[in-house]
Amino acid sequence: MTSAASHDPRSTDAWGRLAAHATGFDPDLRAWFADDPDRAARLTHTVGDLHVDLSKNLLDDTVLDQLLALAEQTGVEARRDAMMAGERVNVTEDRAVLHTALRLPRDAELVVDGQDVVADVHEVLDRVYAFAEKVRSGEWRGATGEPVRTVVNIGIGGSDLGPVMAYESLRPYAHDRVECRFISNIDPSDAAMTLEGLDPATTLFIVSSKTFGTLETLTNARLCRAWLLDGLGPDVDRADAVARHFVAVSTALDKVADFGIDPANAFGFWDWVGGRYSLDSAIGTSLVIAIGPERFAELLAGMHAVDEHFRTAEPAANVPLLMGLLNIWYTTFMGAETHAVLPYAQLLHRFPAYLQQLTMESNGKGVRWDGTEVTTGTGEVFWGEPGTNGQHAFYQLIHQGTRLVPADFIAVAEPAHPLRDGDQDVHELLLANFFAQTRALAFGKTADEVRAEGTDESVVPARVFEGNRPTTSIMAPALTPSVLGQLVALYEHITFTQGVVWGIDSFDQWGVELGKQLAQEVGPAVAGDADALADQDASTRSLIEYYRAHR
Ligand code: F6P
Repeated sequence: MTSAASHDPRSTDAWGRLAAHATGFDPDLRAWFADDPDRAARLTHTVGDLHVDLSKNLLDDTVLDQLLALAEQTGVEARRDAMMAGERVNVTEDRAVLHTALRLPRDAELVVDGQDVVADVHEVLDRVYAFAEKVRSGEWRGATGEPVRTVVNIGIGGSDLGPVMAYESLRPYAHDRVECRFISNIDPSDAAMTLEGLDPATTLFIVSSKTFGTLETLTNARLCRAWLLDGLGPDVDRADAVARHFVAVSTALDKVADFGIDPANAFGFWDWVGGRYSLDSAIGTSLVIAIGPERFAELLAGMHAVDEHFRTAEPAANVPLLMGLLNIWYTTFMGAETHAVLPYAQLLHRFPAYLQQLTMESNGKGVRWDGTEVTTGTGEVFWGEPGTNGQHAFYQLIHQGTRLVPADFIAVAEPAHPLRDGDQDVHELLLANFFAQTRALAFGKTADEVRAEGTDESVVPARVFEGNRPTTSIMAPALTPSVLGQLVALYEHITFTQGVVWGIDSFDQWGVELGKQLAQEVGPAVAGDADALADQDASTRSLIEYYRAHR
């Protein structure tokens, strides 16, 4: 185990200095930019292909210096190195945390508990790649001899959100015959609607579950198996049909076999890969089929480039470190409760949802890794929607509301779909909005500027924009597999940085267990068991009674 005792970030010297500085802190981005012509250049950094402009954050030299001191005093670098070396930094589950090993190059070596995990990773990757090539080429045939036209990934949480997000983001790279769909929710509408219009003869299911014990995934897998066998009719051999139409991804290969899936068609991974960190393991099989092994390898290389940056860049230019520390500044010292992620790229429309699990399942903790209570607030609420849709929905609150909402704006230079409206390049309209929004948020509009537009005095206050609303702008040349991998790794390490400063275990998720356990207990009451119903509290009982009366 690593560092059994947690530190108290509040007892550090840097914490005291930041707290003192936060009292009466009166940021003025207009003045800061006017007084320091170098500010944008000084606070813009590069990580891989990502161009990250931190200059519109509420950051002065004292904040920056003390945040870096805080990272040092809370041991972020040491824990990063421990994590990447395979130490058991997931203390409450007594596990190593090695998602960074999933993207190490083939010729690297990382021995953990006497085992070279890089060799293991590439052995599985090669199997996934070979399988994906068979599906893509049409060599893999279903029970009636037809090639696969639809891949349905069945999984939830980390076994769903990463693959869906990446598939949607990389659609322009997707195979033109094989479409991917995703079933996650136990709501039967999800399976029913996802399967609508599909031909069982050309459908391949990937059951993705780290534990292979997740109620939603196993229920949906059974529904899909029944749908498949019904659809193929009585003449097909059932075991052969399942073998040709079902593959699995899991760390629990014995349970895969119990489900009836041929172990030859199962791809493993390891307990040192957390669910929300597993897109780049075999959990990404649907994505490999969609974009092909070569492109998937580019995604892994993009992630590795950011890992290397996080591991080696000096703290003052280390982008994930800086972004994680800024989040600490906003949440813990400036009272921000949420953080918006606003992609100006429609293809990234599932990226905020993906980040919700990554950040909130990781850092939504009330105790530290040694079991003692946290001494500060922890993980903020991440949320977001693609721009410009968000502009016409919730930006009002970000611009003029009473809450501080730090926001990350993400855009790419090269459009995935270069459409024109007459002479107008539509992507440039999108980017004009991207640039305008962060400018408006940073610099606002004063009462005098509003008056100068001839505005009636009675509505001047309503039209004033205070400014000093913090944003980070992230740009990349294009949304390639590599750039997507870089974005994912960037946020993984931001999340890690925050967790270490707070002294929490960012790699467990005990908070999801109670609901799962109670759902098992409530189940019989929902189905009509009077004794089980009587055991419920008054509110839950009456809700179940309502359900039973209306069904
Ligand atoms: O319930 C939360 C969780 O354990 C996530 O951490 C995980 O990504 C998801 O469930 C799915 O778990 P599995 O891959 O084991 O089905």
